[in-house]
Amino acid sequence: MDMPQEVRLVEVGPRDGLQNESAAVSVATRIELIERLAAAGLPAVEAGAFVSPKWVPQMAASAAVYAGLTRRPGTAYPALVPNLKGLEAALAAKVTEIAVFVSASESFSLKNIACTRAESIARLGPVAEQARAHGLALRGYVSCIAGCPYEGDVAPVEVAVMGRELIGLGAYEISLGDTIGVGTPRHIRTVIETVATDLPRERIAMHFHDTYGQGVANVFASLQEGIAVFDSSVAGLGGCPYAPGASGNVATEDVMYLLKRLGIRTGADLHTVAEIGDWISATLGRTNASRAGRALLARKFKEAAP
Ligand code: HMG
Ligand code: MG
Repeated sequence: MDMPQEVRLVEVGPRDGLQNESAAVSVATRIELIERLAAAGLPAVEAGAFVSPKWVPQMAASAAVYAGLTRRPGTAYPALVPNLKGLEAALAAKVTEIAVFVSASESFSLKNIACTRAESIARLGPVAEQARAHGLALRGYVSCIAGCPYEGDVAPVEVAVMGRELIGLGAYEISLGDTIGVGTPRHIRTVIETVATDLPRERIAMHFHDTYGQGVANVFASLQEGIAVFDSSVAGLGGCPYAPGASGNVATEDVMYLLKRLGIRTGADLHTVAEIGDWISATLGRTNASRAGRALLARKFKEAAP
């Protein structure tokens, strides 16, 4: 299968990344991060989550983030929404795209959103209906596509079932999340092939966490399967509060470096994203988890030296 010539990157650092930071991140910092990422040319920046603040306190001020954000025309700023209450908050915040989420694993569903997989789909029915009525774009996540922190192995067919359900609800695209980063290239290809038996590949995006250092390899494997949309997080920020041991998303800079060297267009500027990664890492007092970001910046400073 031909690899795509162009890839759409969905930057999830301001949501998937920051939701897992232990230090409180101010609304001003969240807004600056989102605005800088959009200005770097990233076409979609997931900007917040309208979930229960008791469950994920880091996303509590998402309404203030959307209120303060200067939105660029043409950039999408999706928000994560778990239920009707979240949808109402998203509408009040003038969000135009929402992302809903379900799990391929039953135990993770219970831990993450306190309901079974079947209940989660039933709960999302009215959310999808209201989203459609208000003209919102709907994206759907399936979590634990390559393994579950509580159950271990997850059969690819379970991913396909949940993916079909989300498309049935009206999602324009499903993002398949390796929540705990246990997937490896051959298995990821099997997952994609299984899901693609029933769904066109244009409607499948991949969302890798880099826990075991497999993120970039899994992106490459997915490209070989014809996938052209990837979620990633600047500086590799993040993790998942309900997935013990999960580290951040695959770093946007690492994915962009791979794509650039493969001659695949993204429309975003790698050096600008690397600088944002350095800034947010310093602001949060954490190590920049992007290897490409660190290497590019080290080279820049060396070249600038007398
Ligand atoms: P629940 O406890 O069953 O909900 O949680 P409930 O309806 O019984 O309500 C409990 C309380 O939460 C009530 O408040 C509600 O008002 C409030 P109280 O009366 O106790 O004061 N509440 C809300 N508050 C704000 N916004 C809302 C909302 N809904 C209820 N939308 C619920 C169910 C889904 C709400 C909860 O489990 C939840 O918020 N979970 C979110 C978990 C989450 O955000 N996880 C991280 C995102 S998923 C992820 O990262 C994976 C992904 O990246 C892909 C991948 O990597 O695989 C997407
Ligand atoms: Mg995630």
